[in-house]
Formats: sequence, structure tokens, C-alpha cells
Amino acid sequence: MIVQSVIYGALAFLLVVIIRHVHRLKQWRRLTAQTTMLDSWHPIWGHLHLMNDLSDYSRLVIEKVQTTRARLTSTWMMFFYPVFTACHPDTAKILLKSSEPKSKYSMGAPYRMILPWLGDGLLLSDGKKWERNRRLLTPAFHFDILKPYVQIYNDVTEIFLDKLQKACDSRENIEIYSHVSLATLDNMLRCSLSYEGHVQEMGDSHPYVRAVRKLGSLSLRRILSPWLFPDFLFWLSPTGREYKRNMKYVHDFADGIIASRRKIVEKNPGQLQKNKLDFLDILITAKDENGEGLSDLDIRAEVDTFLFEGHDTTASAISWAIFCLAKYPEEQEKIYKEVTSVLDGRSQLSWDDMSRLKYTTVFLKEVMRMHSTVPLISRWLTKPLVLDGVEIPSNLYVDILIQCINHHPDVWPDHMEFRPSRFEDYKNHDRDPYTYVPFSAGPRNCIGQNFALNEERVMIGALVKRFKVELVEGHVYEEYPEVVMRPKYGIKIKVKQR
Ligand code: HEM
Repeated sequence: MIVQSVIYGALAFLLVVIIRHVHRLKQWRRLTAQTTMLDSWHPIWGHLHLMNDLSDYSRLVIEKVQTTRARLTSTWMMFFYPVFTACHPDTAKILLKSSEPKSKYSMGAPYRMILPWLGDGLLLSDGKKWERNRRLLTPAFHFDILKPYVQIYNDVTEIFLDKLQKACDSRENIEIYSHVSLATLDNMLRCSLSYEGHVQEMGDSHPYVRAVRKLGSLSLRRILSPWLFPDFLFWLSPTGREYKRNMKYVHDFADGIIASRRKIVEKNPGQLQKNKLDFLDILITAKDENGEGLSDLDIRAEVDTFLFEGHDTTASAISWAIFCLAKYPEEQEKIYKEVTSVLDGRSQLSWDDMSRLKYTTVFLKEVMRMHSTVPLISRWLTKPLVLDGVEIPSNLYVDILIQCINHHPDVWPDHMEFRPSRFEDYKNHDRDPYTYVPFSAGPRNCIGQNFALNEERVMIGALVKRFKVELVEGHVYEEYPEVVMRPKYGIKIKVKQR
């Protein structure tokens, strides 16, 4: 009797769930019909049968937008779930100005995959916690703090250039993405933790480098594997167990450094009067208006967030910048001229030079437009939102396809033409700031953008001063959008001495 009641109860519950979902499906079908929907919709697969990975999704939306000039597109993930995509500044702006949280609440939400690793740091937290921590962390990006980092970028770049020197001497082609990525991680470890652990020299044999790379690739694997969405299945799977092992290593690494720094600061607070503070010093000493500081767990979340957000992104931007130098030799010469003129006989760029590198800066901006460094971000709707005249209901996530905004025909004529002069001030004074959002915009904009631009200027400036770079004939240079824009087959270059 009891068993029978339980079965009937479960069946009734299932029926209610199905009826509710069918009702929502009807509503969603009506809505997606009001937007620009991708072609070739399949009654079971939706649009998934057209996609193997994120790059297919971006490509299909961009292709659709080129012919329709759409502002909002929709894509069906099988027959039961639509994803709306803001692909024009006007629709992206509404979301970017809102306080809607990051997409981490539904099972397949992209940010959920990195949540166990990065925790409730600035990138993933929301509401009051985010507001407080953003306030506490903003001083870490004040120019007084950023100024001494320029010397760190120079030191790190020297090690990177020595590797290029070897390739130059032996006349071998070199794949630069992996080397740039080690250099930017080295920069972040030195600037955030004052850790100098021979990261570039050891490369993948450094356990921290290996663990961070593994966590990135395992998180992506989970995004594309719906059977790993439920937590308990993920943690039981080999992928989840590998994730846990690497996450433990990364957390222990940061915990160890935080604990020993706390001891030093508590014993001798005067040591913070030194010339160079790293991010950890700021995090440990930060206090809110009630005199409350950050817990060790909060600090670890911020450190892990900086290390992840702050090295993969700049690695992508700098690698594609080197690709563009090699692809457009006339641009390389313009930058060489500017850098040598700014240096005026000195060997290294300084803080004061950063604002003088005007052409280099517009070149870097065009690189980040052409090869969108962060191709996509996403928000979760907690309440209905009208985008392009369509009211999207709550409890859905909406992607902001930065890559598509960077190539939208309404904003960027001849979008595939590489033309840094688009960004020169006199032409852009009245441009809507939401037309170009490599660092996002609005309240959740990138806190590290000045850090990133300075690092890019120093690495690119030092590179062109010492070498000429060229593309390798026959190599295929293809974009592969993931969390950041990667090259599908690496970026191979030839290096020649100046
Ligand atoms: C070229 C380099 C970089 C690019 C293109 C970039 C891009 C972005 C974008 C698009 C976002 C918004 C993410 C979202 O809404 O989900 C973001 C947020 C963030 N970025 Fe960056 N970033 C770069 C470098 C850095 C660096 C160097 C750091 C740290 C030193 C950093 C730290 C952060 C943090 C902490 C957030 C979250 C901010 C918040 O929500 O309050 N980024 N970045």
C-alpha cells in the first residue's frame, strides 16, 4: 500500500514537472520565434547537431549576424533549452549595465564549472559580497601599486626573449603561445604573491603550471559533457577526481603562501612600508568600514581568481599581437619606430613610457577586437528582461558574445580588415563605449585592465626592439574560442635579430 502510494506520488510529481516544462517549452518556442534563430533546427537536437564545440556556436551566430544584422539570436540546446545571445552593443549594454549575476545557477551554466576551483572571488561572487570585495580590492589596482610592476614585466620578458633568442640562433620556428602563457603566469605569480619559482624555465614540469592548465581543460570538458553536470556524477567520474586532485594542489599552494605571509605581516607590520606591495599584501591588510578584513578562504578565492583571470587572458592577447606583428610587417615597423623613439636610447620601458606608446596601444586594441580575447561572457536572469523588444523570462541565462560585437556590421565596417587607426581618438570621440568591450563594461568590468595593457605594452615593446618576427609558410593559423581565444594549431613564428 505504502509502496503503491509512493509510486503514484512520484508519477504525479513527474507528470506535473512534464506539464510545466511543456508549457514553458511552448512559451520559449514563441519567444525564440521573435528573435533571430539559428538555421537548421532539429526537433530533438535543436541546434546541437550543428556544433561540436564553442567555436561552432560562435561561428554560426557570427555568420547569421553578418547576413541579418541581428541584435539578439537564439540557439536551442536539444529540444528542451534555448540560449539567447546578445550580439550587438544595444542588447549587450542592457545586460552589462544590469546587476544580474553570473551564469552559475543552472546545471550546465558555464561559470559553475570553475566555481569549486575559484570559489567566491570577484569573478564569480554576486550581491553584497561582491560589492564589498570589489571596494576592498580596487586599491590593489591603483597606479601607485601598478607602477613597480613594470620592472617585473621587464624581468619576466627578458626570460621569454632569451627563449626566442635560442630559436633565432638555431633558425628554428617557435610556437609562442605556450611560452607567452608561461611568461604571463610568471608575471601574475610575481605581482600577486611575490613568488619567483622559475616557472618559465621549468614550464610544464612545474607542478603549479601543470595543475592550472589541467583545471582549465577539465572545466571545459565538463561544459561539453552534460552527463557530468550533476555534481555527484562529476565527483565520482575520473574527470571529477582528476579535477579534485589538481584543485587540492592549487589551493594548498595558495594556502601555504597566504599563511606564511600572514605570519610575517603580524610579526612585523612595518615591512609593508616597502616600495613594492603585491596583491597579497593588499588582500591581507584590507579592512571594510566596520574594520573587518577578508578571511583566509576569501583571500585564497581572490588569489586563485587573479592567477586564472590574469594570465590566460593576457597570454591570448599577447600571442595574437605577435601573430599580427608577423602578419602585418608594416605595422611591426610602425611599432618598432614608436618604441625606439620612446626609449630614446634606454634599454627598458618604464612606467612613464606607458602613456607615450600611443600607436602600440591602438594596435593592441585592434588585436583584441580582431581576435576577441574573451569571446563570450554570460548572465543569469533573476527577473524578466526586455532585449530587442522581446521579454526574456527569468531563470534563463543570456550569453554576451563579445566576439560577435567585435565583428558586428552595424559597428565595424570591413570588420575583417586589420586597421588600428579605427581607434585613434580623433575618429572615436563620440563612439558608444559599449561598441568595444574586450574588458566588459558596467559594474562588472575587468578590474585588471590597466595591469593587462601595461603588461602587453612591455612584452610587445621589448620583443620588437630586439627581434623581427615572421609567419611560417604553410602553418595554419586558426582561432579556437574557449574561455579565451586560443589558436587551434598554435602560433608558429620565425624570429630574426634586428
Ligand atoms: C587582456 C587581458 C584581459 C582581458 C581581455 C580581460 C577581460 C575580462 C572580462 C571580459 C571580464 C568580465 C567577465 C565576466 O563578466 O564574466 C573580466 C573580469 C575580471 N577580470 Fe579581466 N581581463 C584581462 C586581464 C585581467 C587581469 C590581468 C586581471 C587581474 C590582475 C583580471 C582580473 C579580472 C577580475 C578579478 C574580473 C572580475 C571583476 C568583477 O566582476 O568585479 N583580468 N576580465
